[in-house]
Amino acid sequence: MSAIDDTLVADVFDLAAQRVEAATGLTFAGLRRRQFDAALERMAAALGLPGAAACASWLLAGPWDDARSDLCARFLTIGETYFLREPRALDLVCNQARALLARRAARPLRIWSAGCCTGEEPYSIALALRRDVPQLPPGRVDILATDLNDAFLDVARAGIYRRWSFRRTDPADLAPFVRPLGDGRYEIDAALRAQVRFARLNLADAVYPSAATGTLAQDVIFCRNVLMYFGPAQAERVVARLRDCLVDGGWLVVNASEASTRLFRGFTPVYLEDAVFFRKDALPAPEPAPVPVPVPVAPAVVPPVPARRSEPMPATAPSAPVAADDAAMARVHALAQTGGREEALQCLRRAVEAAALSAPLQQRAALFALEHGDRALARHCVRRLLYLEPDSAFGHYLWALIEDAAGRRPRARSLLRDCRRLAGAGAGAGIDAELDGAAAQWLERLS
Ligand SMILES: C[S@@+](CC[C@H](N)C(=O)[O-])C[C@H]1O[C@@H](n2cnc3c(N)ncnc32)[C@H](O)[C@@H]1O
Repeated sequence: MSAIDDTLVADVFDLAAQRVEAATGLTFAGLRRRQFDAALERMAAALGLPGAAACASWLLAGPWDDARSDLCARFLTIGETYFLREPRALDLVCNQARALLARRAARPLRIWSAGCCTGEEPYSIALALRRDVPQLPPGRVDILATDLNDAFLDVARAGIYRRWSFRRTDPADLAPFVRPLGDGRYEIDAALRAQVRFARLNLADAVYPSAATGTLAQDVIFCRNVLMYFGPAQAERVVARLRDCLVDGGWLVVNASEASTRLFRGFTPVYLEDAVFFRKDALPAPEPAPVPVPVPVAPAVVPPVPARRSEPMPATAPSAPVAADDAAMARVHALAQTGGREEALQCLRRAVEAAALSAPLQQRAALFALEHGDRALARHCVRRLLYLEPDSAFGHYLWALIEDAAGRRPRARSLLRDCRRLAGAGAGAGIDAELDGAAAQWLERLS
């Protein structure tokens, strides 16, 4: 290809990345740009197009539609989620339910899981309410769960999961809301499933708050591990709209690492060790006071008292090393949001060396590095992870992603096979417990 051709192709890629960002919010600035270019190749294969340039042209041609959004959601995000993630957020929901009952309010409790992925998050919310606030009739709970990716929503509606979706808890402890099917899979109780309304909603579209999308007057909105895919301007717009969807005093739950200083105007932050909650201020937002960088610290505002402190939920508050890992990753994500990706990656490199013996940190660092286009660093962290935990199925999965991103598909395929074997052996849950959601799609892509 001539230099002119190269330049033209690069221009088309740039335009396609800009269009994807405008339509879905998914940003590919900085180092993530390389990830976009690599994904174009895989998207082209899925569409039966001859290559990345043809795929970029397809993304640019004609009006934006669901098919384009689906493809982007499928190839440009990683659907990492599991049951009972961050139990304190579930305590928060239960306490909102108790407060509603105490006020003798007639209206339902409204919860929205925005970016619900394959449904583990909204089902965890329904389950926690049924189990911990049984006095609230199911008919008085309205749980909306939305995502950009229709394939994820189909998995969610089916309500059948593998052991890997319960990686921080034992599904046997969740009976009768979760029951084994006897083949390594688990089914969500039909009554619980009926409590969750799944719908497609693109958070980058200005379709909320609205009665049509059922997003009005929410008590709690979960938007965890989604804002990190957006650029700062888009994230700010999304947070502002989500704020408009909340009742006064309602809560927005994000991942601690997404709580950047600039985003949350009109909210009061509550920092916990493993989560940040933002309470919508009743009064019009004052000039934004500088919000501290989101290093987890003791709560500045006392949140509703967790209901079952004496009976910790399966994933308990983190131990000291885990809290240190959280703090390190929080700094990295905060820098990615505000300071730029290079600073974030430098901070990550320091964290990776400081916590050389922490397998969880190496795993999270590998994922971050991969998502931000630093394959060398991702590989370094995965090597460490597999040195510390040679049988880590997730480590093999990440390694497969790295090999795939480098274009080494046979190697990626073989690693995914190892991942399946290890997940099956480790979790005792059938051959491909690891391969729910995005991982399964990855395998499909590589096959
Ligand atoms: C990492 S998952 C988070 C799952 C869950 N919230 C949790 O924390 O366990 C991110 C999800 O955000 C979704 N997503 C990405 N961009 C989106 C958009 N513009 N609108 C709605 N969902 C989006 C992805 O499809 C994916 O399911």
